[in-house]
Amino acid sequence: MQRAYSLIQIALHWIIVAMIPVQYLTGGSVERTHHAAHMGMEPDPWDMLQHLVHNYCGIAIGFLMGLRLLVRLRGAPEETPKSLASLAARALHLAFYAAIIGQASLGFIASYLTFSVAPLHVAGSWVILGMVALHLAAAAWHTLVLRDGTLDCMTRLPGKTTAE
Ligand code: HEM
Ligand code: HEM
Repeated sequence: MQRAYSLIQIALHWIIVAMIPVQYLTGGSVERTHHAAHMGMEPDPWDMLQHLVHNYCGIAIGFLMGLRLLVRLRGAPEETPKSLASLAARALHLAFYAAIIGQASLGFIASYLTFSVAPLHVAGSWVILGMVALHLAAAAWHTLVLRDGTLDCMTRLPGKTTAE
């Protein structure tokens, strides 16, 4: 099974993959900055910078994932899932769009509208971590066990994919 993702889909996939770890590396700074402010102390400048990066990188991820969803809906490499595994893969992929866009939206709401949704944002970060672990396990399974070249559709340009 080979699916033909367009160049823009492949590029957006890997750009977002590179940006997601930034959110996990900088997320803790938000709580530290708020804590310092509540204690009437000057927040650490490094934490302030990380907080800034977290917000703007997160907003960018939300937009890029939204753009990716639009591209996906307009020009999807459609394929009817044939097995339970491909159905599960399809479900996980769609859930990623919802989870990442939802996570960025919750972060935005927590920062600029009401902090009451912050626990959902924190919980969301664990859900996404679990989804990434499943996604990585599936990619490793396809590559190392099934050896079916599934990874090629996200690493090779359209037209350069190999037919099974
Ligand atoms: C998909 C994008 C995002 C991911 C994966 C993400 C991930 C995280 C993580 C891992 C934390 C630390 C959670 C903890 O303390 O255990 C965090 C905290 C936080 N993030 Fe994000 N974030 C994203 C986008 C955003 C955006 C766009 C904003 C705001 C514009 C934002 C605002 C916040 C806030 C306010 C907290 C503090 C929550 C708290 O301490 O209760 N995040 N985020
Ligand atoms: C090194 C890490 C990763 C690898 C090797 C990888 C690999 C792949 C591969 C091979 C596919 C195509 C699967 C297929 O269509 O059968 C895919 C699709 C996808 N990946 Fe990843 N991925 C990684 C990380 C991530 C992360 C962190 C996210 C979350 C932001 C993500 C989100 C997605 C989504 C949403 C799709 C479905 C695309 C679609 O059909 O619209 N991936 N990935």
